[in-house]
Amino acid sequence: MSKPLLFTPFQMRGVTAPNRAVVSPMVQYRANDGLVNDYHIVHLGKFALGKFGIVFTENCAVEPRGRVTQGDLGMWDDSQIEGHKRLVRFLKQEGSLAATQITHSGRKGSTPRSFDKPGELGPKEAGWKKWQVVGPSELAAGEGYDTPKALTEADLDDLCVKFGQAARRADAAGYDIIEIHGAHGYLLAQFLSPISNQRNDQYGGDRAGRMRFPLAAAKAVREGWPEHKPMFIRVSAVDGAGGWDVEDTVAYAKELKAIGIDVIDTSSGGLTGLSTALPVKRGLGFQVPFAAAIKRQADIPTMTVGLILDGPQAEAILQAGDADLIAIGRQALYDPFWALHAAQELGCDSDFEMWTPEYGWWLDKRKANLAK
Ligand SMILES: Cc1cc2nc3c(=O)[nH]c(=O)nc-3n(C[C@H](O)[C@H](O)[C@H](O)COP(=O)(O)O)c2cc1C
Repeated sequence: MSKPLLFTPFQMRGVTAPNRAVVSPMVQYRANDGLVNDYHIVHLGKFALGKFGIVFTENCAVEPRGRVTQGDLGMWDDSQIEGHKRLVRFLKQEGSLAATQITHSGRKGSTPRSFDKPGELGPKEAGWKKWQVVGPSELAAGEGYDTPKALTEADLDDLCVKFGQAARRADAAGYDIIEIHGAHGYLLAQFLSPISNQRNDQYGGDRAGRMRFPLAAAKAVREGWPEHKPMFIRVSAVDGAGGWDVEDTVAYAKELKAIGIDVIDTSSGGLTGLSTALPVKRGLGFQVPFAAAIKRQADIPTMTVGLILDGPQAEAILQAGDADLIAIGRQALYDPFWALHAAQELGCDSDFEMWTPEYGWWLDKRKANLAK
């Protein structure tokens, strides 16, 4: 039997993922001053022991006001490199590629954690404070969100520099892959949609104008990131509010490809309200058709995400040629050994050989005990 596609390597520039199972970026609200701590190492380290081919950190802000919450990780200061280095070292030691996502939250920053009760802002003892959020125009994302201050053209130039500097820090920390979070209604997505971007300068107006800042930020990251390392961008294929559609994303993806983006990580929604407010009915693999459309129409590799639960489902997506990489979010929280279990479901690791030998040797022996 030939090896399932899920467990075949995937090469991007000078970097090869050992398999196509990816841990999706998932913010944990556990950082102070944006610094990686033991929590992040244990949380993400589990997935490397679980043999995911690529492990993504949560979104790391390129400046403090680009965080979503005060507990998000950062990539805005050199003092943050050391913690990332420690994390990267562990992920790579266990055989995963280390990937990070950099972001600016724009008008969707300065929020409570998703599970905070009304009126709460983060852990009580931590004394989190709000900050002035920024965006393309002075329009709030919805109820419960602050009204942003509109960014000037000089602010946007400065932000491009910050995106580039964040890329250099990520490289110094040793990450193999960088991704810009350009989805879920955060800053780049706010520029793309005419609902949130009502500027009359060169960064607003028609689609080309609205794409200008996201493309400039992506270019700055590509320039700050080594040629041999791949760069992804996460997009919302549709903004969930009727301002930006798949056809727009295909045009955007073609431009991104031209400036050296290697993979389009395809999500959806989030422009208004919660980042989880999605426009399409959430069923198994509900965002796969978006990844497939972008892959085919813009001729660029895609990563898909969203309610992918098991190995056979992931393998069917890859076999259909709908995406190149499979990102797993909540199912990885439920089962950090998802990739290894998927390999068993797909019949390619019945002897626990893919597991770290400290686990696998014993599990194989246990299997023999149980069979007796
Ligand atoms: C706890 C949690 C935190 C998340 N944080 C991020 C994030 O930092 N960046 C991002 O692009 N998406 C984030 N997401 C979205 C996930 O990456 C993923 O796209 C989404 O959960 C759908 O995939 P799933 O059905 O496999 O969970 C988060 C999701 C969860 C559950």
